[in-house]
Amino acid sequence: MTTEKKNIHLSQDINPKEYHLTIQPDLKMFVFTGEVDIVLEVKKPIKSITLHADEIDVTKATFNDALVGEITHDEDSETVTIQFAKTLPVGEGKLHLVFTGIHNDMLKGFYRSKYYIDGKEYYMVVTQFEATDARRAFPCFDEPARKAIFIVTLLVPQDHTAISNTIETEIKELGNGLKRIRYAPTPIMSTYLLAMIVGKFEYIEKKSPEGVLVRVFVTPGKKNQATFAVDAGVKILSFFTKYFGIAYPLPVLDMIAIPDFAAGAMENWGAITYRETALLIDEKNSSTANKQRVALVIGHELAHQWFGNLVTMDWWTNLWLNEGFASYIEYLAVDHLFPEWDFWAQFIFLDHVRALELDGLENTHPIEVEIEDPNDINEIYDAVSYSKGASIIRMLAEYLGYEHFEKGLQKYLKRHAYQNACTEDLWQALEDVSGKPVKKIMNNWTKKAGYPLITISETGKEFVLSQSRFYSSALSQKKATDKTQWVIPIGIVSSSQKEPTYHLMEQKTLHIPKNGDWMKFNAGEKSLVRVSYPPTLLNRLEEAIKKKTIAKEDRFGILRDLFVLAEAGKASTDQALKMSLAFTSDAAYIVWVELATEIAKVANLVSEEPYYEDFKGFAKSLFSDIVKKVGFEPVKGEDHTQKLLRSVVLGQSAKYGNEEVIKKGQTLFDQVVAGEITLDADLRGVVYTIAARNGDEAVYNALLTRYRKETLEQERDRLFLALSSFKQEELIKKALAFSLSKEVRTQDSFKVAMMTSMDQQGKYLTWEFIKNNWDDILNRYSGTYLISRFITPMDSFIHAEQAEEIRVFFKIRKAPSATRTILQVLEKIESNALWIHRDAAKIATFLKSRQKVSL
Ligand code: BES
Ligand code: ZN
Repeated sequence: MTTEKKNIHLSQDINPKEYHLTIQPDLKMFVFTGEVDIVLEVKKPIKSITLHADEIDVTKATFNDALVGEITHDEDSETVTIQFAKTLPVGEGKLHLVFTGIHNDMLKGFYRSKYYIDGKEYYMVVTQFEATDARRAFPCFDEPARKAIFIVTLLVPQDHTAISNTIETEIKELGNGLKRIRYAPTPIMSTYLLAMIVGKFEYIEKKSPEGVLVRVFVTPGKKNQATFAVDAGVKILSFFTKYFGIAYPLPVLDMIAIPDFAAGAMENWGAITYRETALLIDEKNSSTANKQRVALVIGHELAHQWFGNLVTMDWWTNLWLNEGFASYIEYLAVDHLFPEWDFWAQFIFLDHVRALELDGLENTHPIEVEIEDPNDINEIYDAVSYSKGASIIRMLAEYLGYEHFEKGLQKYLKRHAYQNACTEDLWQALEDVSGKPVKKIMNNWTKKAGYPLITISETGKEFVLSQSRFYSSALSQKKATDKTQWVIPIGIVSSSQKEPTYHLMEQKTLHIPKNGDWMKFNAGEKSLVRVSYPPTLLNRLEEAIKKKTIAKEDRFGILRDLFVLAEAGKASTDQALKMSLAFTSDAAYIVWVELATEIAKVANLVSEEPYYEDFKGFAKSLFSDIVKKVGFEPVKGEDHTQKLLRSVVLGQSAKYGNEEVIKKGQTLFDQVVAGEITLDADLRGVVYTIAARNGDEAVYNALLTRYRKETLEQERDRLFLALSSFKQEELIKKALAFSLSKEVRTQDSFKVAMMTSMDQQGKYLTWEFIKNNWDDILNRYSGTYLISRFITPMDSFIHAEQAEEIRVFFKIRKAPSATRTILQVLEKIESNALWIHRDAAKIATFLKSRQKVSL
């Protein structure tokens, strides 16, 4: 777990202004050659220039066409230094560099990606520069604050398509099978946003009302999957233009589907790259969830065209300004496009809960975190930067009011356009517009780790709220010394007042006069806090839940917090399980997602207890009413969330042994395999998984055959996840081995381990597999944030010995960009071990008393 810290800030004595970059990729040998003229300003008399360069070989360097420089590469600091015999004159100058580099297969830098046309294999080359991999494509000042203009020229095969950030200004046939394409200068921008893509593509296009051409590029044969994206792109672009009050500065916005892609998508200015599953929709074969994902990712990346590209964080410490913000504003875009999706409700489990979970650990980190090493940067593309960032923005927007919020953003963007900014700059603009003390409120939310638990106690006429940092692990709580106090905007609803009243909790405690039969704190789950209720109030809330006189977001929050308080030892699990019974007649999608999550956690926890089967029976009965209500048959004209709800409750019912559901699922699968029916896309995922969890090798082979033939990536994903869902040891091992085989793209292989580790037996096998293949995994994923995806699933182990084993394993092994993840996993396991020890007997008693009731 050792990482050497490197000082990666380059000198400020010289400043790049323009890069005139010419690159010639080689799609057969996977090497490229390039030249760059960097127009720069020399601010002090210096004799050497140090730039970033990684796995590229700079072979020639001259200054102002006259001075020849001596070149030294330094691998550790990822730099190249050009030493001159004479002092460089202060003022503008030109550094000319000639270099070669590699089109690697590591999904970063200027990498290669494989695709097929009519079964024949081809390669494209594509860039992925964020966070620090522009230096793998050309020598540059690879830091977000070193903004410059890029004038790109590409030399590419005649019959290929080349895409960069801006529009072509000249295309010239060179006669040797190559063409030279020059692109218009980019806006002034950071290196990580530059893009170059060369391959065989088709595209469709549409003009936005503002006159921007939106194009979607796909590999040949997939054009019919681009319609949804081009429509969404046009609408969202138009929406953001109005919302931010600033025109999109380029004439074209390209969105490109890339077959091999580490992240979901990347916001390169004017040339956004996507994983196929995050961009392409096949009207017949993509599911409702697939569509939602595509709309969300497009919303996210388009938000970055302003928030991130136009105004950029000054350093990676402020990464959250990019990612947290885009993760909030993406919902606005989707909600605008599809108001009938009720999409904000999903924020609570897609982001808010993820933030609460990760940030409830001792081994979390503040949103603003010091960054020294490139590996540290990869590590913070996590739920803190994304989901906690998004959640505190939502909390603030709610408190300031949406008009002030929008005006403040506009002010921030105008004030810092084409420049860099830090967190305080955003608070300042919002403060200027709203007149509220934004900085004072927000400081501890971004500068301190964690968030508060608000404990409510009752006196005669009042409730007393008291805050302290929350830890989900009883052990971490015991060790804790953190006395942070947050300034908390908190909304309150009650039985007699449905519209929330807002208070600003500025001290450790706050007194609130009682109102009505019940009161719910953190109305609408808008603030990043958890709440612990006194028993009497909790009972009244339970009644309100049964009667559904309380909003679904609030029902969700009460349930979620009670379960985590049980985990933390501040409530007991039987209490939480009893509360879950209040939801059996609930119909809200988000509520069932939450029940499924919490029940699965407890199921995992008790999986080695003698009463495990009884617990499964309890879980099955919990889902029995709702599964009857939604059934297998999609209903014409039903709500968006009803479609999503169906696969959740079917999947859960089958998981806990509902025979009827399992049989029906298996029958449907058999009919699909026999070619007798085409399943509704929304049902496929759950049907495949039911077949797998209850199936044998024949089912495995049937899924594999389909996986190999399928060309729609979303369908391949469903099949792939099902392949990883079998229960037999042999098939689990087979799936794991398959995940690292040549047939599976690196971008996908980590998903297998995530699935096979869903239950205890599978988790042991998965951990064995990871240990045995660590070198291979390291080779594939080193230096990307995907590596942590192999480690996180182990956090549901329930014995302290397993924590110890993991600790020992990684003590002597490298796990770059996963240092913090390992600590988080250990903390979780230790917490689980305490949890089951504390509550095993209580859960047993609860289950027994339930059986008596049903007799
Ligand atoms: N800027 C990121 C892509 C990225 C992630 C680059 C990690 C380098 C390292 C992009 O804007 C992003 O956040 N993509 C998300 C999509 C999303 C909807 C949250 C992703 O890739 O998952
Ligand atoms: Zn992003």
